Amino acid sequence: MSEPLSPETIAIIKSTAPALQKHGVEITTRMYERLFVDPEIKALFNEAAQKSGEQPKRLAAAILAFANNVDKLEVIDSAVNNICARHVATHVKPEHYPAVANALLPAIKDVLGEAATDEVLNAWGQAYWFLASLMISREKALYQDAS
Ligand code: HEM
Repeated sequence: MSEPLSPETIAIIKSTAPALQKHGVEITTRMYERLFVDPEIKALFNEAAQKSGEQPKRLAAAILAFANNVDKLEVIDSAVNNICARHVATHVKPEHYPAVANALLPAIKDVLGEAATDEVLNAWGQAYWFLASLMISREKALYQDAS
């Protein structure tokens, strides 16, 4: 597991929850536009879920749940397990995680504009990798179970 998030980072993440509640789907829609420039990554996703707009909604809900519970992750434990199972079913690998970070953080900036200060983006960068590390290790265990 990665280093725990600092109390300062946790406070910043929680303070962004109202903005995520309001603009989450806009942010994740923008994120996928950035992410799908890479055809290899686009191919991992179910096109039906993309076209129906479901995937940006699911990701926005997951990010909001994470922001609201960043100091009590046990609340979202089973939701995280479900996402990891879906990732393993769709062959998501650790090496895909940087591309999502590189699409998500600029998408937050694109949508929130000046509200996405360097402090906010830095906190989200740390929080992303904290969650990503947890998911990568759970997914590793699931891949091992399957093999
Ligand atoms: C911390 C980072 C991530 C979070 C919070 C996240 C969240 C989610 C959520 C909520 C779902 C929907 C699960 C469901 O159907 O119930 C999902 C599915 C999926 N995610 Fe992620 N994800 C992350 C990273 C990634 C990465 C790095 C990739 C690879 C580029 C990826 C690719 C996918 C794919 C392919 C699906 C299945 C989509 C489908 O059903 O067509 N995710 N993810």
